[in-house]
Amino acid sequence: MAETAIDVRHLPKAEAYEELERHLRATMEGIADPIATMATLSCLLHEGFGHLWAGFYRVVEPGRLLRVGPYQGSLGCLEIEFGRGVCGTAAAKGETIIVPDVEQFPGHIACDARSRSEIVVPVRDSTGNLIAVLNIDSERLAAFDHNDATGLERLVRILAEPTNGVPVADNRG
Ligand code: SME
Repeated sequence: MAETAIDVRHLPKAEAYEELERHLRATMEGIADPIATMATLSCLLHEGFGHLWAGFYRVVEPGRLLRVGPYQGSLGCLEIEFGRGVCGTAAAKGETIIVPDVEQFPGHIACDARSRSEIVVPVRDSTGNLIAVLNIDSERLAAFDHNDATGLERLVRILAEPTNGVPVADNRG
């Protein structure tokens, strides 16, 4: 396999996320495994945008506890309770949260002191159960907007596909 990570910083955000989705699907060919999909997506987001931290916190006790999953970046904290920090709040509400300035978010958990802004997106499986949250941290203030929310929400829907992003054979002839 000759896949290499790509830099999408030169593209408008909507196109950048489309490009990463194409790359993710191509990379995952033949491997239907949610952890492998999470790991590959973490890498693509980290390399593609040059973010400080990109990765997943998995639901290990529904309604109560998240535990770190595949990620790229500096050492992440291991466990976050539902309702705590940005990740736990997004998990409890089941909603995407954009934090333009982490110092203005009460209860923000500072895993890396360089983080200035972040976004957290809920991740669901094919039955609609919350299985994780995707967390991205930036060294820049206000790095994330509604284009990121839309792009990331679309990307993580891959994890709700029965094949977790693996291209399905086209049988139309
Ligand atoms: N800042 C997050 C914690 C996770 S780390 O940033 C990797 C939060 O407040 O939930």
